[in-house]
Amino acid sequence: MKVGIIGSGGREHAICQSIKKSNKVDKIFCFPGNAGTEEIAENVNLDLRNFENLKNFIFDKKIDLIVVGPEKPLVDGLVDYLESFEIKVFGPNKVASQLEGSKIFTKQICQKFKIPTAKFGVFKDKDSAKSFLKKTNFPTVVKADNLASGKGVYICNKENEAIIAIDEIFDGKFGKTNNLLIEEFLQGEEMSFFTIHDGNSFKTFDTAQDHKRVLEGDKGKNTGGMGAYSPSRLINEDLKSKIINKIIKPTLKGLAAHGTKYKGFLYTGLMIIKNEPYLIEYNVRMGDPECQTILPKLKTDLNDIFLACCEEKLSRLEIEWLDKKSLCIVVCSKGYPEDFNKDVEIENINEIIFNKDEYLFHAGTAKSNGKVYAVGGRVLNFVSISDNLRLARENILQNLETLDWSGGFYRKDIGYKVIDK
Ligand code: AMP
Ligand code: GLY
Repeated sequence: MKVGIIGSGGREHAICQSIKKSNKVDKIFCFPGNAGTEEIAENVNLDLRNFENLKNFIFDKKIDLIVVGPEKPLVDGLVDYLESFEIKVFGPNKVASQLEGSKIFTKQICQKFKIPTAKFGVFKDKDSAKSFLKKTNFPTVVKADNLASGKGVYICNKENEAIIAIDEIFDGKFGKTNNLLIEEFLQGEEMSFFTIHDGNSFKTFDTAQDHKRVLEGDKGKNTGGMGAYSPSRLINEDLKSKIINKIIKPTLKGLAAHGTKYKGFLYTGLMIIKNEPYLIEYNVRMGDPECQTILPKLKTDLNDIFLACCEEKLSRLEIEWLDKKSLCIVVCSKGYPEDFNKDVEIENINEIIFNKDEYLFHAGTAKSNGKVYAVGGRVLNFVSISDNLRLARENILQNLETLDWSGGFYRKDIGYKVIDK
């Protein structure tokens, strides 16, 4: 069969490589893909905002299954559109994608179904938001309601920082908005919990801990993710059942009250405080770099899992994992998450010899005349799976020495809370 993957990041390269192993799959298309996916799939550069062009391409090439990686096309309703032409698509529909597309939509479900989360208020203008600050405790969290690629969240230690956040959000920094949220700051440790859904049933899809800050020791600006390890050091059976029963199942009831089901990956972003989970946010997709970190441990055919989800047969399938630890380090262009140079050659990329349990997933890369260039902020993902995380990290750091890329940087301390304690 033929499979199409929407997206161009490390997550999509990892999905592509996992699907490639399926003996049912003879051809993969990536829309638009990167220099890594180009090796194993056909990269197709279409304007993804034009759903009709994409649909015509899918019919023309007789693609049997579409997997949507990033949130934007999900929130824009790509799944609903393609399904209206009876195309099989893995990913949630437009209403269900509001779990990520609107923080207020999610908070309303939390309120109605008593899901543990930070206390919050919704504000419709600058004045009411600013006057609320007079009676709030700091730090406090100011959030844009709409999709903001992870950048619409301000952790404010003082009133003047919160005022800047309110002004930036209402002045349209993340697009036109009529609402913002001010939220209680939760002090704990973050964890990403993944589930996979077929509309009627769901299964867990491992856990991970991401390192969002740009500098070692979790300092500096927020990024999309500088590295991750899996499983999370916080997970245990008791916590897992609390997450499922107090957060995920009530959320699915909330979606049912909106008249919809959930199909696809669900990424539950949590703050864990004394073994109690609090919902920070939902993402309606796999995490990046969590996906690259988790997928190398998957034993079950990923294509079978996607098909089972599209055919509402997930409960019949057992998802099996290697009993290993996995770690991922992300190599970024110097300057990220601020401005960085583009089209910088990554000279030594072909010098590295990867062992069986080591993986390289491309993100912001492009190939030209046989050479690989960095074209994005997050560029490469080095993953190693092993019996212990320290060894996994050492293997990666060795490969990164061979890479010796002057255009980039990375964090050497991924997993430090478990490895260097
Ligand atoms: P979000 O886009 O909602 O995931 O927020 C981005 C990051 O901000 C999260 O990964 C957390 O590190 C932090 N954050 C968001 N909300 C809160 C909160 N209520 N308390 C503490 N940290 C938060
Ligand atoms: N790693 C965080 C995210 O995918 O949103």
